[in-house]
Amino acid sequence: FETGSLAGCRVLVTAGPTREAIDPVRFVSNRSSGRMGYAVAAAAREAGARVTLVSGPVALDGPAGIERVMVETAEEMRVAVQAHLTGCDIFIGAAAVADYRPAQAAAQKLKKHNATLSLDLVRNPDILAEVARAHPRPFTVGFAAETEDLDANARTKRMQKSLDMIAANRVGPGQGFDVGDNALTLYWEGGSESLPHQSKTRLARELIARIAQRFHDAPPS
Ligand code: C5P
Repeated sequence: FETGSLAGCRVLVTAGPTREAIDPVRFVSNRSSGRMGYAVAAAAREAGARVTLVSGPVALDGPAGIERVMVETAEEMRVAVQAHLTGCDIFIGAAAVADYRPAQAAAQKLKKHNATLSLDLVRNPDILAEVARAHPRPFTVGFAAETEDLDANARTKRMQKSLDMIAANRVGPGQGFDVGDNALTLYWEGGSESLPHQSKTRLARELIARIAQRFHDAPPS
């Protein structure tokens, strides 16, 4: 990890979960703590970048020296990302964006009239894939959190979303989400590398060093 390896670069990072309203008091979300994304944003700052962090609801303080934009829903995250994309050199999508949201948020609190309740869910926009389709586009990095077939799922996801790099990690009980350490395998066009299990802070520095290297060697086309 070289201090200054991203000097003069603008980096945009998403982190944390999103919340999708069911009614005024309830939401659909996931177990993301935001820790990996926050560590990535801090590591990019340490490497000399100007960093904007678009964050879903988390219990973390904003890292020093970083512009933080708080959002709640996937749609709000998408709007915030689009608003900060101009001039961005590197985009790192570490947020656990909810894949689906309730088709309609109820205006009033739902009442428990029936023994069962069905929620109609609709797909959320894929923020990362949209960034990767932009012209010009930043060097685009995604995450793949998987419970199985890590290698195959990550490679497929990188191709389908046209990413310059994907960082894959296992998730499950005590792994990946809501814990302080993690391991990552990185995939790019023509290569891969496993970064060993360590604190998310150290892991993020290693990830940023690899991103900086690939960004300078193979800028986005
Ligand atoms: O397809 P999957 O959700 O597993 O892809 C994960 C990657 O895509 C992460 O980098 C995540 O931040 C990003 N993503 C996104 N918008 C979505 C879903 C995922 O930016 N709606």
